[in-house]
Amino acid sequence: MEAPRTYRAVVLGAGAAGMMCAAHAGPGTLVVDHARAPGEKIRISGGGRCNFTNLGCTPERFLSANPHFCKSALSRYTQWDFIELVDRHGIAWHEKTLGQLFCDGRATAIVTMLRDEMAAAGAELRLSTEVIGVDHADGLFGVTLEREGRRERVEAPALVLATGGLSIPKMGATGLAYRIARQFGLGVGETRPGLVPLTFTGAVLEGLAALSGVAAPARVTTNGAGFDEALLFTHRGLSGPAVLQASSYWHEGAEITVDLDPEGRLLPALRAARASAGRRAPATILSEHLPQRLIAARAGEVAARVGDCADAALEALVARFRDWRLTPAGTEGYRTAEVTLGGIDTDGLSSKTMEARACPGLYAIGEAVDVTGWLGGYNFQWAWSSGWAAGTAI
Ligand code: FDA
Repeated sequence: MEAPRTYRAVVLGAGAAGMMCAAHAGPGTLVVDHARAPGEKIRISGGGRCNFTNLGCTPERFLSANPHFCKSALSRYTQWDFIELVDRHGIAWHEKTLGQLFCDGRATAIVTMLRDEMAAAGAELRLSTEVIGVDHADGLFGVTLEREGRRERVEAPALVLATGGLSIPKMGATGLAYRIARQFGLGVGETRPGLVPLTFTGAVLEGLAALSGVAAPARVTTNGAGFDEALLFTHRGLSGPAVLQASSYWHEGAEITVDLDPEGRLLPALRAARASAGRRAPATILSEHLPQRLIAARAGEVAARVGDCADAALEALVARFRDWRLTPAGTEGYRTAEVTLGGIDTDGLSSKTMEARACPGLYAIGEAVDVTGWLGGYNFQWAWSSGWAAGTAI
């Protein structure tokens, strides 16, 4: 092998966090990725339009063993800072719903923006490059790389772990950040898939699968967290934003509660019909608020005319839609999960710089760290904020 080249910093992973970090770390930063292109998750995110941040980004919308850890980075590099960057690059955007900001055009504009920022900062990007191993001696990290069968060693006083989590292995997700973190004495907590569809078995699955394709607004609650968004029935169980959000709070064996009438319209509608149009069928009144297939599956035995229903009967009917309790068998796993919960323990990191307390020069950022956002642009904002925090500290 040739004599090692020395860099200011080596960033492992050219995803959202790694590119953001390199754009701020200054000249002489090397970014390494085994993929053929940088920022692949950015490219496919938000249906190809990248939900790049959220106007309502606050620390409460993140899960972590230490809920305070994310505060510093999120408050020093905010959604407004990223919006300013996007504006500076002339990328048009719009708010879709719930503060979620999307590109008007293709998500690749965000990747191009980050590549341009890295180039302007003097960072070097190496793609299709495997990380063979990392060592540390005399204040320098040594990284052995391999590209097209050729090995090379590079050295730097700073090493940034930005290879993300385990979600979507087909897209090149690996546990590299966790392995290197452990090698240098950092704790790595249990990981599990987050923002992921929930799966069911047996008779419950049969019932749900029969509704496959039906979508409805709902509140899905589990372990004290509830989300009002769309719910989608699938041939494996439940999906849609409300379920993906709840999945991050769900633990094996726990129940979820589905409320298909989160605004509480059904009971007043049935009572009003009973008073004014008692000959109408309860199912007909429900069909003004819910999909027909859902009513057929959930309404059960009920009088033919709403005028014949006592209050208790109407309440029982509505409860079948408002208090539907289900116990998932599991999730679709990392294959389809948008994020990985858990990961590198924040106890070992500075919340200001993302640097490992016990190993100066080692940084961990983005999804590899035990900070996971809600659905809706929060995970990219964490990648930008943590990447900026490390990049400006190097
Ligand atoms: P990221 O995964 O982006 O980057 C890690 C990089 O490391 C990759 O380029 C990978 O190739 C590289 N790497 C991994 N292992 C390596 C190894 N062994 N050697 C070398 N390189 C290695 N979030 C959001 O806020 N809004 C959204 O719209 C979406 N949409 C969305 C859609 C889908 C389908 C998914 C899967 C995820 C999202 N997300 C999202 C989540 C978001 O994509 C995610 O949180 C960030 O990309 C995390 O950024 P990181 O830079 O930490 O990891």
